[in-house]
Amino acid sequence: MAEVIVVTTNTGYPRKCCPALIGSESREAFLDTERVPGNATDRPQVATDCHCSATTCQCHWEDLEQPAQIEKMESDTKAGPVRVLVTGGSGMLGKAIEHVVMNEGLKREGEEWIFLSSKDADLRDLGQTKAVFKKHHPTHVIHLAAKVGGLYEHMRDNLLFLSDNLRINDNVLQTAHDTGVTKVVSCLSSCIFPDKITYPIDETMIHNGLPHDSNFGYSHAKRLIDIQNRGYFEQYGHRYTSVIPTNVFGPHDNFNIDKAHVMSALIGKTYKAKMEGTPVTVCGTGAARRLFTLSWDVGRLIVWVLREYDEIQPIILSVGEEDEISIKDAVEMIAEALDFKGEIKYDTSLSDGQLRKTTSIAKLRRYRPDFTFTPVKEGIKMTCDWFVANYNSARI
Ligand SMILES: NC(=O)c1ccc[n+]([C@@H]2O[C@H](COP(=O)([O-])OP(=O)(O)OC[C@H]3O[C@@H](n4cnc5c(N)ncnc54)[C@H](OP(=O)(O)O)[C@@H]3O)[C@@H](O)[C@H]2O)c1
Repeated sequence: MAEVIVVTTNTGYPRKCCPALIGSESREAFLDTERVPGNATDRPQVATDCHCSATTCQCHWEDLEQPAQIEKMESDTKAGPVRVLVTGGSGMLGKAIEHVVMNEGLKREGEEWIFLSSKDADLRDLGQTKAVFKKHHPTHVIHLAAKVGGLYEHMRDNLLFLSDNLRINDNVLQTAHDTGVTKVVSCLSSCIFPDKITYPIDETMIHNGLPHDSNFGYSHAKRLIDIQNRGYFEQYGHRYTSVIPTNVFGPHDNFNIDKAHVMSALIGKTYKAKMEGTPVTVCGTGAARRLFTLSWDVGRLIVWVLREYDEIQPIILSVGEEDEISIKDAVEMIAEALDFKGEIKYDTSLSDGQLRKTTSIAKLRRYRPDFTFTPVKEGIKMTCDWFVANYNSARI
């Protein structure tokens, strides 16, 4: 049995290593809180005794006590002033984070939060990215900025979605590294999972096959964030991680019928039909089922990830299977919220898309068994009220 010794890495974070592997590039050389491929669970674990060959280690794994990780995150924040830079801060998720941080007491004393839009810096440009980091000196980054679009925009411009997002992500992560940012939480999306996949989908499946053809550019750029995070960890010990929201909706969403996601498109359509006294026409039969999560819930969870989630591998942030609803259910809830009394038609000549896209939130539940999601009906009512009150300034 090889002795396991403790070394200190350039993160100042003690790690257990097999002597045989010290200095090697092997990921298996590091036997601390990271989930090493092949270990039994997704929980952070620690290796207690290892049998090592020149290239691999067989270890006995024990669950790591959660407080040890949290202590580490708190010690980060005790080290000095905390400045959290939120890229994409003017978008739906950025506004949700701003809401929960500023209005729900999630902002801690001494913390500064900076919410950026593309007007502050075009993050496709490295010079502008460096300048905005130099201006704000962030210690932490929540990276939401992305070129996002509707289905047809993606199909028309896959190459642009690939190149813009590759540049944005590389500039942000590289500049975060260059300027000593302690933690970056980037946003992936459930649409980047392989097209041919088994259900329920979980975090380990991102790279298991090609994404759907319609958005291959956006998907590959997003998938590479996970690869970059792994690289920054292996090479520099950085704790840069990512989250995977599913169908998010809420205030400040894009309600433009051609560009919007399904929930905001249905809200925009139904309100327009009410104003014009026409029927509302829904694409497909309404039978497809989806997991809709309110942006404020995702915002609350992203703040938790920033403070306490210590893995490099992504985590799915979504309501669970028990909250899955059909498009028809969603349309009826929207009609009730907007007091739409007109006819609802279903254009069954149009595709429903995939009937289900169930994702597993087992990992989230292991960390946050207590987290309560806003009931979808309540979230829809709140979003419809916001949309009506802000109709003149909303993205329509
Ligand atoms: N909405 C969803 O259902 C969903 C689901 C899964 C994942 N996500 C991910 O969550 C993140 C946020 O999504 P969202 O729905 O909040 O998007 P959104 O409302 O469209 O906001 C996009 C944000 O990115 C900024 N941005 C775009 N191009 C930029 C550039 N070149 N330089 C700097 N900033 C730029 C925008 O700034 P301006 O306002 O100035 O244009 C805006 O703040 C994205 O990474 C997205 O992929 C969203």
